[in-house]
Amino acid sequence: MHYFKYKGNILYAEDIPINVLVEQYGTPLYIYSAKTLRRHLKAYTDSLKALPHIICYAVKANSNAAILRLLGSMGAGADVVSGGELYRALRAGIPAGKIVYAGVGKRDDEIEYALRKRILMFNVESIEELENINHIAGKIKKTAPVALRINPDIDPETHPYISTGLKKNKFGIPIETALEFYKQAKQMKHIRVVGIHKHIGSQITKVNPFVDALERILILVEHLKQEGIHINYLDIGGGLGIRYNDEEPPHPKELAKQIIPLLKKHDLTLVVEPGRSIVGNAGILVTRVLYTKAGFDRKFIIVDAGMNDLMRPSLYNAFHQILPVKKKRGKKVFADVVGPICETGDFLAKGRELPDVRRNDFLAVMSAGAYGFSMSSNYNSRPRPAEVLVDGNMHYLIRERETYRDLVRGEKIPDTLKE
Ligand code: LLP
Repeated sequence: MHYFKYKGNILYAEDIPINVLVEQYGTPLYIYSAKTLRRHLKAYTDSLKALPHIICYAVKANSNAAILRLLGSMGAGADVVSGGELYRALRAGIPAGKIVYAGVGKRDDEIEYALRKRILMFNVESIEELENINHIAGKIKKTAPVALRINPDIDPETHPYISTGLKKNKFGIPIETALEFYKQAKQMKHIRVVGIHKHIGSQITKVNPFVDALERILILVEHLKQEGIHINYLDIGGGLGIRYNDEEPPHPKELAKQIIPLLKKHDLTLVVEPGRSIVGNAGILVTRVLYTKAGFDRKFIIVDAGMNDLMRPSLYNAFHQILPVKKKRGKKVFADVVGPICETGDFLAKGRELPDVRRNDFLAVMSAGAYGFSMSSNYNSRPRPAEVLVDGNMHYLIRERETYRDLVRGEKIPDTLKE
């Protein structure tokens, strides 16, 4: 559910017509709905209220400071995967005690930064990483709170690029060896074992993979208990899917209904790391039609947003609904919606049925709030879009459009080339 709806012929973001926003801020433009963000976070909070829990929003989905601030002010923590994300989360006011840190390749400086800031826990992905964290913590006289990220070997039935909990994936510690690693962790002087973590993938549209993975993890928790290893936090990761087209992903309530009974007899604080299901449908990318043209066998609508602004269609062949900002009557066309970038992979939609749009019409690419701006780049030296947050009848610029000057920031010409 979201608050991008037509009123009459015009698509609105909450109470504001989108054409008003593009007139003021230009295109391409990311627009987010504050009401939708609140609603989505609340869906988790309400669903999980029977259990002690922390909702650690996955910063990678959308790391804009205003969005982090909004979610943080409602009590969300953060799931981070780099020093940069940790910096962003802290700067937005999210308490370190609600921040978890995952990722297979944490650097020494990043580990030290997180230790000094006293995050809730490191989600550790290998024995070498664990040894390194122990070493760094000893060096700076700290104790590192850790959870081991377990690879439970469960098929999330999603796109292979975003499956993370299969045997062949690089993530986590194989469930078979986990007990052994926990025993080793317990012996390490500067490590405090506090939790267990798993994350099996993203855009998961069924409850079953979550339940299966959790059941496997809970067996491990029992084994840990028998070994005298007691943990406080059970982190089940993120991954709940959203509706892009005709998917029918479970509501957090349905997920909670299935998992709460499994957890009732355990004295654990549940951690969840939703990203997409919080921001995905809370954002759109609005783009201007530059040209239309007839190819050999198809029509092209050339717009001013490209794969550098929204990479998901090119990278995953992902489907994003495309809606005209102003509804048009009359004939429909089938067209490829493509960007200005010099790559054949630069498309937002293929063979899509659309109204017969013309130069300077606006199109809204829906469900672009997650992994949209956060995966954008400057490829083809394109300044990245502005971002706007709408709240009721108010709108706020939450990131300025980049300028040409931003493109070259930090670049230097060696003196020898200046002559
Ligand atoms: N926790 C961990 C450890 C993760 O790796 C991820 C996402 C999440 C939580 C959040 O998952 P979510 O609730 O958003 O599904 N770029 C891809 C998605 C990559 C997801 C990576 N990890 C896309 O655009 O579909």
